[in-house]
Amino acid sequence: MAVPLRPWWQDALVYQVYLRSFADANGDGVGDLTGITSRLDHLASLGVDALWLNPCYPSPQRDHGYDVADYFDIHDEYGTLATFDALVAAAAARGIRVLMDLVPSHCSSEHRWFQEAITSPPGSAARARFYFRDGKGEDGSLPPNNWQAAFGGSAWTRLNDDPADGQWYLGTFTPHQPDFDHTDDDVRQLFVDVFEFWFDRGVEGFRVDAVAPTGKHPDLPDQPPVDPDVDVLDITWLNPHTVFRPEGHDVWRDFRSTLDAYEQRHPERELMMVAEAYAVRRPELVRRFTRPDEFHQMFTFDLMLSPWEKTSIERALLDPLELLGDTGVVPAWTLNNHDIQRVVTRLGRADAHLPESWTNNNLASSRADVDHALGARRARAMAALVFALPGSLYLYQGEELGLPEVLGMPDDRRTDPIFALTNGIFEGRDGCRVPLPWTLDPATSFGFSTLPPDAERATLEEPWLPQPSNWGDHSVASEEARPESMLHLYRDLADLRKKYATSQPLATRSIDLGPDVVGVVRGDLVVVVNATGRPAIIDVDHPALVGRRVVLSTCPESDAGTDVVAPDSTVWYVA
Ligand code: NOJ
Repeated sequence: MAVPLRPWWQDALVYQVYLRSFADANGDGVGDLTGITSRLDHLASLGVDALWLNPCYPSPQRDHGYDVADYFDIHDEYGTLATFDALVAAAAARGIRVLMDLVPSHCSSEHRWFQEAITSPPGSAARARFYFRDGKGEDGSLPPNNWQAAFGGSAWTRLNDDPADGQWYLGTFTPHQPDFDHTDDDVRQLFVDVFEFWFDRGVEGFRVDAVAPTGKHPDLPDQPPVDPDVDVLDITWLNPHTVFRPEGHDVWRDFRSTLDAYEQRHPERELMMVAEAYAVRRPELVRRFTRPDEFHQMFTFDLMLSPWEKTSIERALLDPLELLGDTGVVPAWTLNNHDIQRVVTRLGRADAHLPESWTNNNLASSRADVDHALGARRARAMAALVFALPGSLYLYQGEELGLPEVLGMPDDRRTDPIFALTNGIFEGRDGCRVPLPWTLDPATSFGFSTLPPDAERATLEEPWLPQPSNWGDHSVASEEARPESMLHLYRDLADLRKKYATSQPLATRSIDLGPDVVGVVRGDLVVVVNATGRPAIIDVDHPALVGRRVVLSTCPESDAGTDVVAPDSTVWYVA
């Protein structure tokens, strides 16, 4: 068998499927696995190499699957192990691999082990799988330390007020997501079994959730005081006793050795793990997580959190490209995911061009006015940049349709725990998770819901989150019919990426092609981004551009010549 030059995941195009909102094949208003299988041709039309499924394990859905009640089965609203196997087989038939989401930092409070822990005495083996501690104060009524939960409130929950057993347990995200203690042997073995179970079913790798807070200081000391101006949702991430701890790396090394051992037994497989953590402008962290015995990749959120402004974009490229040059670790770019305001809305915000807007605080939850048309132009240009870059690229469903964030959802329809736990101060993430529009037909929730021929129900249920009335304008059917749509751009970019980008060497650098533009060279490919609202003149006599021709402009209707790049647009030049 010929040895591939690079492992498949190094330059893969991966499509993130937020299962609950992708396609509902049984009419209950909630997406399901059969829905995905029925829509695989859409993924194939984008040339994707793999799909990443958000968690589909049994779960009370308090954090939409990031509260896992059983790591070895499928959530009943989504299907069964048999429908999962059918999806993996149908995807494989189209050359699409399946990645799953692994949630090791915590489980659901409904997980069998947690239920066992709360009915077992303090000090028992059942409690040792989690962080149970006595409270402070005479009657133990004060939490064991001052840690705050990532989604608001204390990170500690007391079981009851009984002085004999009023222990507290730790939940870094919410009280419904108790943290595992990975120094416990049962916990370590659990994840060995989880890997093997899903690899045996044909899964090719995992996106690993919440790696930052996995691993704790053994003494669980108080978090040092934080500036009173820090947002409640940021406090946890500044806690040095639970974020990016050395103890976490023991867990990742165990995971990697399980994966490597499996691969050794199955040499035809090429498995991978990508770490989910926000390490923007902290390349030393990416280095640590991508050591040869840890993760294969770590998400590169730098462009996702970058303002639409030349120096910020250049800054976002700098660390990942330097790291690639130094260590060979390829970036895993993304512009969207299910936790962040959608790019069209983000880049259409009145503050999106300000260099100081780079923190996720602002760009993930800015409430500045939105100009959607401007946001869409910038999103097109940003996409054309990221498709050219070395590394893999993770698309989030609906990005290819240019879906905006759904703003102003009625409060009684919001389901994100962030909304409830911050008493509505933060809207939460429902707005980027609204069910996809496939057609123009409002009677089927724009094609999201269908009824199978043998359906038990006679009518379709409302989708679990409300869709705006104009959602059909962004549907696949509507965009198919419009050559200038985001969908056509994404399909073109996917083709061009294969033709002109992934065939190039990985080494990529910024070049100076003029004061207003970002210039990037990768072998024979030159990409120029004009992140201003004015046409930009570029230096066409620059040696990198001489003899090059334009193969793509994200603003094709503009009358820009080869020495002028239209406002808020990107151009690809090839030899
Ligand atoms: C990160 C996931 O992407 C997010 O959706 C989830 O709420 C948290 N981790 C907790 O698991």
